[in-house]
Amino acid sequence: MRILLLGKNGQVGWELQRALAPLGELVALDRHGERGLCGDLADLDALAATVREIAPDAIVNAAAYTAVDKAESEPELALRINGEAPGVLAREAARLGAWLVHYSTDYVFDGSGESPWREDAPTGPLSVYGRSKLAGELAIAASGARALVFRTSWVYAARGGNFAKTMLRLARERDQLRVIADQIGAPTGAELIADVTAHALRQAMGSADASPLGGVYHLAAAGETSWFDYARFVLLQAEQAGEVLKVGHGQIEAIPTSAYPTPAQRPLNSRLDTTKLQETFGLHLPNWQDGVARMLTETTKD
Ligand SMILES: NC(=O)c1ccc[n+]([C@@H]2O[C@H](COP(=O)([O-])OP(=O)(O)OC[C@H]3O[C@@H](n4cnc5c(N)ncnc54)[C@H](OP(=O)(O)O)[C@@H]3O)[C@@H](O)[C@H]2O)c1
Repeated sequence: MRILLLGKNGQVGWELQRALAPLGELVALDRHGERGLCGDLADLDALAATVREIAPDAIVNAAAYTAVDKAESEPELALRINGEAPGVLAREAARLGAWLVHYSTDYVFDGSGESPWREDAPTGPLSVYGRSKLAGELAIAASGARALVFRTSWVYAARGGNFAKTMLRLARERDQLRVIADQIGAPTGAELIADVTAHALRQAMGSADASPLGGVYHLAAAGETSWFDYARFVLLQAEQAGEVLKVGHGQIEAIPTSAYPTPAQRPLNSRLDTTKLQETFGLHLPNWQDGVARMLTETTKD
């Protein structure tokens, strides 16, 4: 089996390089490509030609335009990368009879209410990024390709920067820390996303009657929190490991979203109902605290 992975150096893409490796021969590209192969999702023709040349059994697309605020001033580019390119990949997958795995986001919802969103709930993106990601979902659905689309939320990874590391740095440097308390979701590790992807893809590809497994699935860690309580959890972990911070976990100031204006509006309710994913693939999703604590242990210097 041959798998084409796009966006290999992103948070999720990096972990997919590990998780997909045992499934088959992996051709992994970043936006710069290699050996004449195109990994740039903004170059739609070259992207299609690359898929034809590799002729994979599965395409896993971890590349995306993820600069949520910048997208407000670059809507065409965001739409090409997040909306049109997934459609190109899906049509090429359909031609080949290959599976497509793609990632979407809680930002396709308007963030109203307090209930976890199910896959069939009405969408209503609040931002250019959210609209571009929804366009990608719709293009995949219209292609007729066999596809697994995982909507996830609040992604972090051990590699590179993330919210938890930023909170720790600010708590060491600053005298005051103000964090949004009215956006609710579940921090979800790139490791978990990659591992679930590998399980689901293996099951989908191994199943004799595979098409019923295709569709949209919500994939997030269990439980829920606000950015404020997430930050408190991170600082408490550091304190329990013996660190003395300038701002302790009990000293963070909770602020509403309205006190922290950004170019792109974020949903207040990012809760995702993951029942469909767990029941379809027989998977268990761990609590968000487990992954965050593990990531902090991995990234804290000895
Ligand atoms: N991060 C989140 O909180 C979050 C939440 C919900 C859903 N998601 C979705 O989850 C998926 C993975 O996100 P992530 O957190 O791993 O994002 P990420 O770390 O920002 O990775 C995205 C990758 O896409 C690459 N990319 C950007 N433009 C490209 C282009 N034109 N051609 C090829 N590659 C390009 C980036 O490369 P460069 O580094 O070179 O720009 C980066 O390696 C995405 O579909 C995202 O929409 C993310």
